[in-house]
Amino acid sequence: MKKNQLVVITGASSGLGREMAKSFARRGKSLALIARRTGPLESLARECEKLSSPSADIFTIDVNSHQLVRETLQKLENDFGIDYFIANAGVNDTYPIDQDSTKIAQNTFAVNTIAVIDQIEFLKSIWLKKDQKNRNKVIVGVTSISAVRGLPESGIYSASKAATAVYLESISIECRPKGIRIVNFAPGFMKTEMTEGATYSMPFILSAQKAAELCVSDVLKGKDFIIYAWPFKLIVYFLQVLPNWAYRLWASVFMKLRGGRSFSSET
Ligand SMILES: NC(=O)c1ccc[n+]([C@@H]2O[C@H](COP(=O)([O-])OP(=O)(O)OC[C@H]3O[C@@H](n4cnc5c(N)ncnc54)[C@H](OP(=O)(O)O)[C@@H]3O)[C@@H](O)[C@H]2O)c1
Repeated sequence: MKKNQLVVITGASSGLGREMAKSFARRGKSLALIARRTGPLESLARECEKLSSPSADIFTIDVNSHQLVRETLQKLENDFGIDYFIANAGVNDTYPIDQDSTKIAQNTFAVNTIAVIDQIEFLKSIWLKKDQKNRNKVIVGVTSISAVRGLPESGIYSASKAATAVYLESISIECRPKGIRIVNFAPGFMKTEMTEGATYSMPFILSAQKAAELCVSDVLKGKDFIIYAWPFKLIVYFLQVLPNWAYRLWASVFMKLRGGRSFSSET
């Protein structure tokens, strides 16, 4: 691998991760691309090298294989030094209201929360053991605006992203003075495989390319909390200050307008 600031991205095979890789490639960064599907990673690596990336290497890994992820990160750090780590891989499975969805919860928390914490804890432990001088590292965790309050019909996903967002906020305060900037990227709706076929309304939806471009540009500007699309900045502020009774009223109306969640017999 040729090196010109290395960016490692999980969930790079599609959607936001794929577009972030291209956005970093256009800015001349080297890339390490992680996901489970080899084909899409290979085509992405070729595309990134045609843009301005000096090199794009692929790693076909499930983020739940913590040991393998750690070994890969350790090797990349030893051989080249990681400058940016983007914890983007995520899942959002839908399920009917009358189903016992514990298994879905286990996988959602495993990918959206535990894997992210495992990767970040590992990276910061190896970075903090090194000499403080010239430490200039960035970690981006991709959460969601659904992390702000418990969204009806999205309890498991919303809770997994909320846990990650609170974790990111906490460590960002500790890590900043030590030369590690922790960024919470909380996007609104994006057109990706995750939202493909969704029947509910998705206000202010952005293309993955637009969201990625805005995010990468803000990360490089030094921001540590990023929300898109812009109306969501207002919505998030509004949701954060709304008292519980008012939020419950607002959310019930929102759920009725959407038509409510399905039952098993309807799916
Ligand atoms: N789309 C939205 O409206 C929206 C809104 C807010 C936040 N987000 C967040 O944005 C992030 C990117 O999602 P997206 O919208 O771009 O969806 P996407 O197109 O479905 O991409 C998800 C990515 O995560 C990877 N992934 C999933 N499980 C994995 C696993 N166990 N191991 C390794 N990689 C795994 C997938 O790759 P493989 O299948 O190849 O492994 C894929 O590259 C997620 O964290 C999502 O929660 C999305």
